[in-house]
Amino acid sequence: MRFSLYRYDPESSEAPHQQAYVLDDLSPDDMLLDALLRLREIDETLGFRRSCGEGVCGSDAMNINGRNGLACITRLGELTEPVVIRPLPGMPVIRDLVVDMGNFHHQYQRVEPWLQADAPPPDREQAQTPDERERLDGLTECILCGCCSAACPSYWWNPERFLGPAALLQAARFIEDSRDTATAARLEQLDDAYKLFRCHTIMNCSDVCPKGLNPTEAIGRIRRRMLGRHV
Ligand code: SF4
Ligand code: SF4
Ligand code: FES
Repeated sequence: MRFSLYRYDPESSEAPHQQAYVLDDLSPDDMLLDALLRLREIDETLGFRRSCGEGVCGSDAMNINGRNGLACITRLGELTEPVVIRPLPGMPVIRDLVVDMGNFHHQYQRVEPWLQADAPPPDREQAQTPDERERLDGLTECILCGCCSAACPSYWWNPERFLGPAALLQAARFIEDSRDTATAARLEQLDDAYKLFRCHTIMNCSDVCPKGLNPTEAIGRIRRRMLGRHV
């Protein structure tokens, strides 16, 4: 199978380029991460991140044949050749497929992604009704892989001012949580021409999310909350 991988070494004078590789004895059921690990046996200078290998940690997000995804859950049989692998778009490249996610994590931090409640913590769990818990479905499963924000043109153009779909999905996760009492402050904090309203509903984010989440819909829920409509 033929591969074309983005290569960049900041310590080399060589310009960034695509490098061709060929691997034999692959099965269509092998994952792209399996192929990358084999390529690294051939070329130990190849840089990429990975950890769990099961679509849980989110660390091996990359651009695969023009679409952001996780190498560990992308079957080779689904890919056309040559398989063109590039780093996540819109994020500074540190080396090869490794990008600097500092701004992405900073935007995540800005939505204060932790439960804020006026009352002191209970001795045991803080109960929710099944309906209240259901409102968090589709929001708590995010693995912060960055595929969505790295597919969003608004985030590419304003990465410091627009929070991006991943951070906004997390904002929605706490706004929707019945146990969180900071809802009004959270909504006020997001009511800004850039932080939230740079989203133009292009939906690239929801198209690429490897967990099947829908950041566009989550952003819509925040907007409707701002308008005072409970959805
Ligand atoms: S919403 Fe999906 S694509 Fe975006 S960071 Fe979370 S898991 Fe990744
Ligand atoms: S819907 Fe909004 S957040 Fe998602 S890709 Fe489009 S502009 Fe970005
Ligand atoms: S290696 Fe953890 S999500 Fe792919």
